[in-house]
Parts: sequence; structure tokens; C-alpha cells
Amino acid sequence: RVASTRQYSQVSSLPPTYEKLHAKYSEVRRVLGPQRLTLAEKILYSHLDNVEESLLTNTNNGRDIRGNANLKLKPDRVNMQDASAQMALLQFMSCNLPQTAIPASIHCDHLIVGSRGADDDLAAGIQTNHEVFDFLESAAKKYGLDFWAPGAGIIHQTVLENYALPGLMMLGTDSHSPNAGGLSTITIGVGGADAVEALVGAPWELKAPKVLGVRLTGKLNDWVSPKDLILHLAGRLTVRGGTGYIVEYSGPGVETLSATGMATVCNMGAEIGATTSIFPYTEASARYLKATRREQAAKNAAALESFPGAGAAADAYFKFKADEGAQYDELIEIDLSKLEPHINGPFTPDLSTPLSQFKATVQDQKWPEKLSAGLIGSCTNSSYEDMTRVESIVRAAEKAGLKPKADFYVTPGSEQIRATLERDGTLESFTKAGGIVLSNACGPCIGQWKRQDGVEKGTLNAILTSYNRNFRGRNDGNPETMNFLASPEIVTAMAYAGSTTFNPVTDSLTTPDGKEFRFPAPNGLEGPQTPYEIGKEVFKVASQPPNPNVEVAISPSSERLALLEPFDSFPESDLSGLRVLVKITGKCTTDTISAAGPWLKYKGHLANISANTLFTAVNAETGEVNAAYDLDGSKHTIPDLAKQWKERNQPWLVVAEHNYGEGSAREHAALQPRYLGARIIVCKSFARIHETNLKKQGVVPLTFVNEKDYDLIGAGDEVETVGLYEMLKNGGVGEVKLRVTKKDGNGDVKEIPVKHQVSKDQAGFILAGSALNLLSKSASV
Ligand code: F3S
Repeated sequence: RVASTRQYSQVSSLPPTYEKLHAKYSEVRRVLGPQRLTLAEKILYSHLDNVEESLLTNTNNGRDIRGNANLKLKPDRVNMQDASAQMALLQFMSCNLPQTAIPASIHCDHLIVGSRGADDDLAAGIQTNHEVFDFLESAAKKYGLDFWAPGAGIIHQTVLENYALPGLMMLGTDSHSPNAGGLSTITIGVGGADAVEALVGAPWELKAPKVLGVRLTGKLNDWVSPKDLILHLAGRLTVRGGTGYIVEYSGPGVETLSATGMATVCNMGAEIGATTSIFPYTEASARYLKATRREQAAKNAAALESFPGAGAAADAYFKFKADEGAQYDELIEIDLSKLEPHINGPFTPDLSTPLSQFKATVQDQKWPEKLSAGLIGSCTNSSYEDMTRVESIVRAAEKAGLKPKADFYVTPGSEQIRATLERDGTLESFTKAGGIVLSNACGPCIGQWKRQDGVEKGTLNAILTSYNRNFRGRNDGNPETMNFLASPEIVTAMAYAGSTTFNPVTDSLTTPDGKEFRFPAPNGLEGPQTPYEIGKEVFKVASQPPNPNVEVAISPSSERLALLEPFDSFPESDLSGLRVLVKITGKCTTDTISAAGPWLKYKGHLANISANTLFTAVNAETGEVNAAYDLDGSKHTIPDLAKQWKERNQPWLVVAEHNYGEGSAREHAALQPRYLGARIIVCKSFARIHETNLKKQGVVPLTFVNEKDYDLIGAGDEVETVGLYEMLKNGGVGEVKLRVTKKDGNGDVKEIPVKHQVSKDQAGFILAGSALNLLSKSASV
């Protein structure tokens, strides 16, 4: 009894988020009994809206949750970067709520071009994008969101330093949001519509992911860093190997890694398609919390860790670790001491080559031997540990009189890390070596790189980065730039050599006085000896209570931002009078439906960005790209004809083949067709996330029962649905057919049976016109 009183007072001294977490976790234990859980499960299930309903529906009494249960989750917060925040906030605004239901932050990082150096680039970026920044800042003021101005830092680094806490669950409107898993926080990358669900306080739904365990033993050798662990894993698992999984790390090797190193590994879990990645809480995590001035958070975590959950089982303690004996759907073992540095690329992050074989591979593949540029930092690799390890080899090279032969760029991940590195002399070491320090923003990592080295578009060349992605054209928009990924120390050493065939572990360089120089093994500090600097005042976060009097800044004449009009609701009958806008053949990815590149600047203006809709789709009947024919036979681009039909109130559908909407989970690929008047997409199969996105925007995704029926329907045909309205009213239950009147068939009518995967909730979205329409009706904060 004495113990239980003590326990109670401990719990009541926890911050409210942890009290809530503890209570939910106790409920999870009550429902699941002594079942052993992974860390990811503990955190996810402790964020369920209704524990019993989620864990016991569609599961064998809670025994086979993963892959079966639909988890309705209540995240603790939402983090948004400036490019995706625009549509998220525009959607939130149309719910007419005075504030968000949970805390959220905006990070201005994606729109600054890296070119000459931090000061010039930042000033130019602010000038070009002021309209978007003003909008985001005013929305932050109105709804009480944290606003990180341009220059304050890159979302994932800022989140790790300020918001990530063990046991929390967050959503981030960016695919590398899982970075926070390095501090035992479940963070999932989502689109704007999902973020809005969480912002209005509605539960956010996720099919319970499977858990892929990675058990680490041993300790990394001198030249090997956490980046090499994930580069190696990407090679083993490929870009699709983690799809549907959370990757959870465990084993004694975990204790040897720094918190920021663990974050790097989680960040790049996105490259294997994982839902998210997570590490257990270790002493290094506690040290990082203290170094980032969150001593109390470390104490809270310790208090929660030592507090018993419901039930007597020894494993019923929230330790931010998996239970002993927890089962993984798959388990990979990696001995860290056997890893060597890796270089991945070009053009895909899973083409992984161990450093010792890289020279031979370069020569074999006839890849360029000259290295044009080495770029380090970004959200993936700009920690104190990364930078001081690099500094150690830069200093040694400086002492030997060497300078990098390739251009050398450094992107600090945040103002906090930049100011700390400046204070401790690290940045000076880089600039002395001729390095260019870019602003604390994404820059070259997201294609915002104005190269100064005269390498023209179309010129074959090789660059090495410590970033996370390397799709063709990702960094400089040049499809001929071969972009390889490596750790910051390998990038830097190879930049000194100016060569892709140099192996810093075994090879030497010649100094100006003719001596042989071999780089010493990198040697850095996990964190600064004194806490991190806060940095320049102007970059400090603006946190404020919501102010309803603030006017959100959108100019009616803006080309980049426009308020959203709610989509119309589903008629109280089946759909009739639809016409097939275009019949598509071959691949139709989200990039085909809504291209990126220069169109990114219209992300906040649905009408303007819609001018790229299905821009690169192939017309199945003519073989032409981006061609559609009106009923009178006149030829148009696909978006032009869609626009004309919208103006004529002519609703339409698209017919397509397999895996419609594969690729990145771009919500504009669902929003744009809906905006232009699409009511149905019928195809042979859908990519799962895009199918969900369509339903959220009120477009009905249907698939042919008989794939051959694809041949029965063509452009211009008139379509009416049979049974669709009934099915929606019945919460997704019922059969649906399409009645097709051929355009040139003298009244020839065909009935085509189609399948759907509409759940009860999704039927509600579609009937309301969109998930947002439904949310804005029911949301209460
Ligand atoms: Fe993303 Fe790179 Fe920025 S991964 S968050 S674009 S630094």
C-alpha cells in the first residue's frame, strides 16, 4: 500500500502528456494482458482513441493486430514544413475553427535556394517567397502555432532539438519526419489532409504496421558512422523493403550510438519505404535531452520509466524499450563492428557499394572519376558529432597544407547547431578550408541549388552528399548529375581528393610540399561540452496564443495562394451524365497526375497547380502524351479539357490500368482531379495510399471486376453508376456497376461490374464531398 501511494504521487507529478500516456498504456495492458510488445506498439497503442475498439476489431482477440487492426490514433502534435504547410493550413482554415486541437509548428526551410552563402541566400529567399512566409506567419498567429522563420532551421533538426520526446507520437508533413525516432518518438510523415484530421482533433487512422526488428551488436569502427548502417540496410532491403513496416532497432549495439546518430538512421528509414523507424531510449538519449536544455524532460522520462503499468507482469513497465521476448514480423541482425563505410547511388538510395569496392565499381560502370562537389549537413547529418568528426579531418588536412579540390558546402540543420558550431570554432575550420556555409535550410537537398561551378544542365558529373535522397535531378535539377550518398566524413575526405575513386581509409594524398598525407580516422564529440547555443534572436521560435483578430495574409490577386472552396457533396442519388475525360495506358504515378519541379511554387494555389493535371499521362487510344479529345473531336491537353468541362459543369471520370497513383503520397494528385470535376477513377488496380487520398477528397476509386472490361470503355463515353449511392449510404456495403453508353455506339449500352474498398468512415467522407467537409461539420475544439 505504501508503494502504491508513492506510485500515485509519482504519476501525478508527471506532465499531462505523460499522465495521459501512462493511463492509456495501462488500458492497453488491461486489454492485451501479458502479451509482449515491441516499443513501437507500446507507443502507438498508447495513442489510440478507443483502445478496445481498435485492438479487438478485425483481430483474433488482440492476438494478430499488426497488418489487421485499423488504429484510430490521437497524435500529440503536428509539425509542418513550409511547402506542405500551405495546403494543410488552407484546408484547416476551411474548417472555421479558432485554433488547433493539438500543438503544431511551421518550419520555413524548403523555399530557400542555396547558392553563394547563408546571408545572401537567405535575403534572396525571403524576398522571393515573402508572400508564402507572410501567409504562414499570419496563420501561425491566428491559430496559435509555433512559427520558425526562414533561417531558423530545417524541420527535422528543429523538431529533434525542441519537440521530440520519448514516448510521444507526432505527425509531420514531410517524409523524413521519422527522424525524431532517434529520440524514441513515433513520428509519421503524412499529407496535408491527414495533418488536418489531427489538427481538428479527429482520430487519424493507420492500418497497424508490421514491425521489422533490427538487432544491433558490436560497435562501429573508426571510419564508420550511423549513416553507414542505414546505407547498408537500404542496400539490403531496397526502396520497398520497409513498406508497411515500422523499423525498430534493439540490441546492445544501440547503446553505443549517439541520439543524433540514431536520428540519422531513422531519417533515412523513409528511403526503404518504412512507415517510420524508432530506437529505444538510452543514456545517450538522456544526454541529448540535457544538452538541448531539456533536463526536466529527461527526469520525466526517467519517472515514467520506473513507474509500474497496470498488471503485475514484469514487462508491464513503460521503459521506452521493447518487452523482453517481443516478437518481430521479421528480424535482421547486424554486427556494427563488421560494417564498413558505404556509398549509395547514383539515382537511387538502395544501390549500395561498400567503400572498399567503390573505386572498382566507378571504373567498371564508367561513372565520372572527377568529383565536382561535396555537400554535407542537411536534416540528415548536421549533428555536433557529424560536424566535429568532419572538423577533425579538415584540421589535419589544413595542417598538411591541403584544400578540398571539389566545391565543399556545409548546411547546418538549425540555428542552434550553427551557433554552437560557430561558438566552438568548427565553422571557422570549414570556411578556412574554403567551405561555403549555406543557410539553415534545405537548399540543395531539395533541388534548391544554384550551382556556381558552371556545370550546365545536361552535363554529366558526379557529386557526393551526406543527404538522404538521390533521385535523378534531386539536387540541382540536372538529370545528368550522378548523386551519391555517404557519411559527412567520407564526403569531405573525397572532396579533398576531388575524386570518386579515392578511399580515405587506405589511400593517401600528396601535400603541396610533396609529402604523403593519410587522413587520420575521424574523431568528434557526441555533443558540445556546454549546452547548445540558442543562436540569433531573430531565428527564435515565435510561440503565441491564438489571436482571432489576426487576418490571414492571402492577396486575392496572388498566384501562389488561394483560399479553398469546399467541394460539393455527393448527390442524393447515383451519379449520371459523367463522361470519360481520358483513357490512360501504362504507368500513372502521382508525379504523372501532379508533377513537382517548377510546379511546387503553386502548392498553395489549387487552381494554378491544376494546370499540370495528368500532364504526362499517355492516351491509351492515340498513344499521345497529354492529349484529350472533346465530344466534338477537338484536341486539347488533358488539364485544358478538364478545365473546360469544369466550366461546363460536365463531371468526369478517368479510366486507367494498374497501380494508379503509385509513387510519393502526394495529396495534390487527389485534390487536383477533384477540383477539376473528377467523380470517379476506374482502373485495374490502385496504389493503396493514393486510393485513400482519393476517398478523402470525395473521388470514388473503383476497380474492374474483370480486367478485360478496361477494353469496353473509352474516352467520351457517357457513364452512370448503378448501386453506388446505396453502397455509400450502407457504409460501404453493396455492389456497384457502371452503365456505359458508348460515344460512337448508336446508343450501345454496356454494364461493367466494379469493385470498391470503401469503409464506413470513407463512405461518410464521399457523401459529404470530402473528409474535410465532414470534419468541418463535426469538429469541435
Ligand atoms: Fe527534406 Fe532535405 Fe529538407 S530531406 S527536410 S529536403 S533537408
